[in-house]
Amino acid sequence: MNTENKSRWIVRPIVPEDVYTDREEFLEYFYNAALAAAGRRTMSTVLLGQRRMGKTEIFKRVVNRLFFEQDPKDPEAVVPVYYSFPDAPMDERKFGTDYLENFLRHYLAFYTGNPKLARLRCSGRELVAVAEDAVSAVPSAETLDRMIKTLRSLENGDSVLPHPDALDVPRTVSDVDDTTIEMIPDEIQNTRLPQYKFDIAGFMQNAVESPTCPHIVTGPAMSILTKEIIGRGTLFGRFDSEVTEAMSGYWGKELTLKAAQYYKAEVSEEMAPVTAEHCGGNPFYITAVIKQAAKLRKPVSDEKTLNENLAEDLSSGFIWGELNDQVTRWIERINEHKITKWILYLSAPEENEDKDKKSRLKLERIQSEIKRREGTDVPLETIRDVLIRLSRGDLLEYPEMGNWFLRVKDPILLEFLKVWGRIEVEGHDQRQVQDELADEYRNLRLRVSEYKG
Ligand SMILES: Nc1ncnc2c1ncn2[C@@H]1O[C@H](COP(=O)(O)OP(=O)(O)OP(=O)(O)O)[C@@H](O)[C@H]1O
Ligand SMILES: [Mg+2]
Repeated sequence: MNTENKSRWIVRPIVPEDVYTDREEFLEYFYNAALAAAGRRTMSTVLLGQRRMGKTEIFKRVVNRLFFEQDPKDPEAVVPVYYSFPDAPMDERKFGTDYLENFLRHYLAFYTGNPKLARLRCSGRELVAVAEDAVSAVPSAETLDRMIKTLRSLENGDSVLPHPDALDVPRTVSDVDDTTIEMIPDEIQNTRLPQYKFDIAGFMQNAVESPTCPHIVTGPAMSILTKEIIGRGTLFGRFDSEVTEAMSGYWGKELTLKAAQYYKAEVSEEMAPVTAEHCGGNPFYITAVIKQAAKLRKPVSDEKTLNENLAEDLSSGFIWGELNDQVTRWIERINEHKITKWILYLSAPEENEDKDKKSRLKLERIQSEIKRREGTDVPLETIRDVLIRLSRGDLLEYPEMGNWFLRVKDPILLEFLKVWGRIEVEGHDQRQVQDELADEYRNLRLRVSEYKG
C-alpha cells in the first residue's frame, strides 16, 4: 500500500489494509446512504451484529472514505462524524463536553480539509481557538459561534441539561444551515451500562429524527439492550436496520490466507476453509488463531495442528484475553460475583451434551450443581435474574417471546466458557487446563465445528 493511502484516515482502523477482507456490501451501502442524505433520502440506521464481527471496522472505513472523497466546498457535501460511546464512568457534563468536542473536531477538520484536527484530538481552549480561526471555512459563522457558546456553557457547568444540549447540536447545525451531517455513534450499548446514570437514548429521539442529520449506530445483535433501545424503547420506529453476519466460507478462507501471509504463519490451502469454519466465520477469531500459529511457529497443516493452535489461543492467547476481559467486566457489573461466575460457567454445555447443544438451559441443573459443588442454596429466581443480566452482555440468549434461555450461537465462546470456568471458577491450574484442552482437541476431530448453530 502506498503512503498516501496510509495517511488517509480520520479515525484509524485497526485492521491493516492487507488483511482487511470483504464487507464490501456494507461499505458501499453505508457510503451511498450517507451521500444520499444530501438529498434528504436517508433514515437513521442501526448496524447490528454479534460481538467482534467487524462493525467498528466498517464504520471507520466509511467515515474515512466520506472525509477524503468529497469536496468540502460542495454545498451537497456530507460531514462525517464518528463517536465511540466510552465504556468508562462519566457524568452528564463530561459526556456532553466529550460528545460536542468530538463533533466540533470532525466538523472543523472536514471544512478546513485538515484531518489532523480530528486525529490530534485537540480540546478545550485550544479547540475553541481553532474554531474561531476557521470562520471563513465553515458554512455559517453564526452556527459556529453558537457551537462555541454551547461548548463553553458545558465546560463551565452553566448548562442545565448538558447531555441533550450536546446531542442536539449536530442536527441543529445542519437544520439551520441546510447542510448535511452524518453522525456515526458506535457502541451504543454502552449507554445502558450502570456507570451512565443518565438517559442518553431518550434524549437522542430528537437528534436522530432530522433528515439533514441521519445517525448510524451499532449494537450487538442479540442483546436485549438493542431491543430495548431500538426495538421497542425510546427510539422505536426511528431506525432502519442492517445486520453483519459471520463471513461466508469463501471470505473466511480469504481472510485466513491473507492473515497468514501478513502475520507470517503457515496455513495450507486445504486448511484455510477449515480454519474459518472452526472459527464460525468470525474475523476476530480467525485472526487470533493465525496470529497464534505465527507466534508458536506451528504451521496449520492438518486438523490436529489447527486444533492445537486453537486450544492454545482459547486458553491463554488472544481469544482468551478478549473473552476473559468481556466476561470479567460483565460479572463485575452484577452483584454476587461468585454465584454469577458459577451460573455463567454452568450455562456452558456439559461434556456429554453436544447433541443437545441448542436446547434450553436447565435452571434446576444449575441450581443442583451449585449446591453440590459450593454447598450453597441459590433460589431459582436468583438464577433467572442473573441469567437475564448475563444476556444483556450477549453471553446467552433470552428470547423475547419465551420465558427461557438459550446458548449463544458462538462455538468459540461456549468452548471458552468451559475452559474459563475450570480455571477461574473451579480454581484449576491454567497450564494444566491448557494441556488437557490441547489433548482433548487433538483427540476429537471437528469438536468445535459441531457446535455450529
Ligand atoms: N473485514 C475484516 N477483515 C479482517 N479482519 C477483520 C474484519 N473485520 C473485523 N476484523 C477483525 O475483528 C476484530 C473486531 O472487529 P471490530 O472491532 O470492528 O468488531 P465489532 O463488531 O465492532 O466488535 P464489538 O461488538 O466488540 O464492538 C478486528 O480487530 C479484526 O481483528
Ligand atoms: Mg465495535
